[in-house]
Amino acid sequence: MRNSLPKVLITGGRGQLANALLYHPHAFAFYLIVMSRDELDITEPESIKLALETHNPDFVINTAAYTAVDKAESDEDQALLVNHIGARNVADACAERNIILVHLSTDYVFDGAAPIPYTEESATAPINIYGQSKLLGEQAVRESCEKHIILRVSGVFSEYGTNFVKSIVRQSHEKAELSVVADQITCPTYAGDIAEAIYKILATEDRIYSTYHFCSKDPVSWHQFAVSIIAEAETFAPIKTQKVLPISAVDYPTAAKRPAYSVLNCDKIRFTYGIEQPGTQKALQTILSLIPEKTHA
Ligand SMILES: NC(=O)c1ccc[n+]([C@@H]2O[C@H](COP(=O)([O-])OP(=O)(O)OC[C@H]3O[C@@H](n4cnc5c(N)ncnc54)[C@H](OP(=O)(O)O)[C@@H]3O)[C@@H](O)[C@H]2O)c1
Repeated sequence: MRNSLPKVLITGGRGQLANALLYHPHAFAFYLIVMSRDELDITEPESIKLALETHNPDFVINTAAYTAVDKAESDEDQALLVNHIGARNVADACAERNIILVHLSTDYVFDGAAPIPYTEESATAPINIYGQSKLLGEQAVRESCEKHIILRVSGVFSEYGTNFVKSIVRQSHEKAELSVVADQITCPTYAGDIAEAIYKILATEDRIYSTYHFCSKDPVSWHQFAVSIIAEAETFAPIKTQKVLPISAVDYPTAAKRPAYSVLNCDKIRFTYGIEQPGTQKALQTILSLIPEKTHA
């Protein structure tokens, strides 16, 4: 007998967003099937077909991705295999079975040279391999699966996996001084807020299939964000860090170039689905209070 709740299959089951989807309070309205890479490898079409045949979902949320931005520079084939070919495989399989696909993408499809927030219509021009691979994945999803939502998000953080927030909290217990890049602007976004936005889209009857931007409402430099994280961490436990020094990206060389101004205009998702941009303060408090032993370790 079929469960009456809408069935949602989530790929990339061990990742930040998959966990946020699984543990979000709105998950109760859906029947979730969360599959890790061992159970569903998006680079293998047969693996996807089998999963869709077995579970027959109404929706697929493709969170699976190669997300190691710096490593991708020397591992281009694998980044393209997962983010381009993998996305195409998922889209093909969804189209074949008339399944609605929510596919995650990134602000890194833009070059970061714009003076104002990027809209969904802004010209894409990725400046690193990760961004290129995600852009190719988007294009494949659009070409293959009509019933798609592509959600571009930025600077994902959460209580799960590895991310900037957890790294700064950890370092705040180890180092008296931190140096953080101050000339790259971003909109860090809590995975729980992305999960909430996705559930709202799934719950909307007359959804419009298209590409949408979603990120937090307060653009900050990584340095400003680190200062906020430290301030919040300090209210939960004593920390070692006394100073957070602003540095330039040129003094913190990384394998992959990153956009200087990575801010997404989120008007379209607000007008279409009534989804507002979240702040980050409450999310930081949630992370620090929820699992302090994980973030303070
Ligand atoms: N993290 C960010 O800051 C950020 C920013 C903008 C956009 N995004 C996008 O948002 C989405 C979710 O990101 P996230 O932060 O949740 O990423 P994440 O924590 O790195 O999770 C991605 C998951 O994908 C899995 N995966 C990798 N290759 C796979 C394959 N061939 N088949 C199936 N699963 C595979 C990984 O498995 P393993 O655990 O086995 O490695 C990992 O669990 C991604 O599309 C990402 O590109 C992320």
